[in-house]
Amino acid sequence: MSDRIPEEMVEEIRKKTDIVDVISDYVQLKKQGRNYFGLCPFHGENSPSFSVSPEKQIFHCFGCGAGGNVYSFLMDHDGVSFKEAVAVAGSKIGMDISLQQDETPNEKDGNTKQLYKDQQDAHELLAKFYHHLLMNTEEGQHALEYMLQRGFTEEQLKQFRIGWALPSWDFTSELLKKRGFDLSSMEQAGLIIKRDNGSYFDRFRERIMFPVENDRGQIVAFSGRIINSDKKDEPKYLNSPETPLFQKNKILFNYHRARGAIRREQSVVLFEGFADVISSNEWTANGIATMGTSLTVQHIGLIKRLTGQVIICYDGDKAGYEAAFKAARELASSGLKVKVALLPNGMDPDDYIQKKGGQAFKQEIIDSSVSEMAFKMHYFRSKNNLSSEDGRLTYIKSVLKEIASLKEAIDKEFYIKQLSDEFNLSIEGLSQQMLSLMPQEQTEKEVQQPKPSGVFQRKSTLLPAYLTAERHLIAHMMANEDTAYTVQNLLSGKMMNKDEHQAIFTYLLAYYEKGHHSDAGAFVHMLPDRHLRAIATEINMMDVNPEVGSDELNDYVAEVLKYQKLLKIKEKQVEEKEAERKNDFRKAAEIGMEIIQLRKALKR
Ligand code: GTP
Ligand code: MN
Repeated sequence: MSDRIPEEMVEEIRKKTDIVDVISDYVQLKKQGRNYFGLCPFHGENSPSFSVSPEKQIFHCFGCGAGGNVYSFLMDHDGVSFKEAVAVAGSKIGMDISLQQDETPNEKDGNTKQLYKDQQDAHELLAKFYHHLLMNTEEGQHALEYMLQRGFTEEQLKQFRIGWALPSWDFTSELLKKRGFDLSSMEQAGLIIKRDNGSYFDRFRERIMFPVENDRGQIVAFSGRIINSDKKDEPKYLNSPETPLFQKNKILFNYHRARGAIRREQSVVLFEGFADVISSNEWTANGIATMGTSLTVQHIGLIKRLTGQVIICYDGDKAGYEAAFKAARELASSGLKVKVALLPNGMDPDDYIQKKGGQAFKQEIIDSSVSEMAFKMHYFRSKNNLSSEDGRLTYIKSVLKEIASLKEAIDKEFYIKQLSDEFNLSIEGLSQQMLSLMPQEQTEKEVQQPKPSGVFQRKSTLLPAYLTAERHLIAHMMANEDTAYTVQNLLSGKMMNKDEHQAIFTYLLAYYEKGHHSDAGAFVHMLPDRHLRAIATEINMMDVNPEVGSDELNDYVAEVLKYQKLLKIKEKQVEEKEAERKNDFRKAAEIGMEIIQLRKALKR
């Protein structure tokens, strides 16, 4: 870990830098009251909702939710690593930090580090060779023709460093040997394979080579496509195996290159195939793809670091539909907003672009993507025969279940109305049926009354009281460490309701425990997760009185606990119903008594 920038230096640079100066290099800022305002560089907008606070040394966009300190700004804006961001900020105030070797995935001991570095270097070297073979040599001529005839341009081939691996068993292994690479390390990197007799042969032979980069733009794997159609028993695409550098469940193709565009567009386009990413890149620069696997939580985490909206653009066939349905559910349940771009039957994005052009693809497919709900209706329709009564009923039930899980009342109303029109059913009947399908917790949230507050009035009026209370508590805790301990005592082991709030709460206490004093900017910066940092920054933008009275704190804590009691009551009500259903009236009566007690406790 020797090449980490020492924490004191990170802090010193942060303290000496003026965030207003740094951001002014990128955004035109105007002073207004205590803060500066400008047009947000992370999403397109016409009226300034991007604000920078010189006192707190943080920025926040009210439009897209981007926010953080000077380092987060540089990381998000330029798509650089944390270390690079510190170096950029340092250079602006004349503190030069020499960036040494690249970080490795697991910074273990020196040997392991050197091993990873070699493997990385080997990938870069090979990519260069393969690319040269494709673009400039006779051996690569027919492969180049294949790519061009498919519609890939020379610029695309260059930009994505696409190459050609010769139909040879030892071209790669010989080259690596000649360049002094340790062959067993190259085998671990998945580039060559060991024979029983101890000699090595090339994994990739006679294939178009697509380099796969990690989130820092370093090549960590290849995917090789076959072009010789009489090799039917070989896979179309051959990927590098799982290695320390390449873990498919954590890699998204084009993530590094697309980062800036994803931020600017405030959305990411998720494709099934990386060929689609490449051919659409000129018009849809915010495109990424998994490496042929389904989405993992790690993938979703990578996406959430950059944006809250995903446009799924999978192939226009049955497999594509199924995969899109599954992906939509997973993305939405982790809090992302989902849209789906639908392709004509039997086409994939690349086919569409070759046939109609990139411009048409952008306008007619990507910009015409439909809401998650509209896609699901489409999907259920394709699965049920709507001309039979059975089919219609199954369809309506499936759709109602999806409507029930929608968050906004207005959306529910909209789709219920649509169903009612479509099948000539009463809105009341459909709503009744839907209510019975609704998850418990959600019915709870909808009866909560919001409570306005401070600068965040506009947003907070939409928040339930317990969430507003939690935000205020955290704001006060960040402003004053004594308050933090007071709140800890008041909560006496009970948790905040929103997981992220609880996480920030825990980190904040640990921060003070370590002997730090209240410094919201420094605290936010040490949070390990971009999502948490964004929430903490937003809370930090609330102007709260650091000398808060204990009455006010008590009120907030009461609000937090009240919600938990309400949840408990809901739970008991379900148990009561269940007991009644089983004709266990004695038990039902007991639970009924408990509910009465809980209700009384709530009033106190
Ligand atoms: P082209 O046929 O070259 O246009 O590619 P495509 O993007 O249309 O491929 P397809 O839709 O068949 O597959 C989508 C993705 O699945 C690819 O980008 C690969 O990541 C993966 N994939 C496809 N075929 C194979 C295979 O044979 N082996 C492996 N490991 N992955 C594959
Ligand atoms: Mn294709």
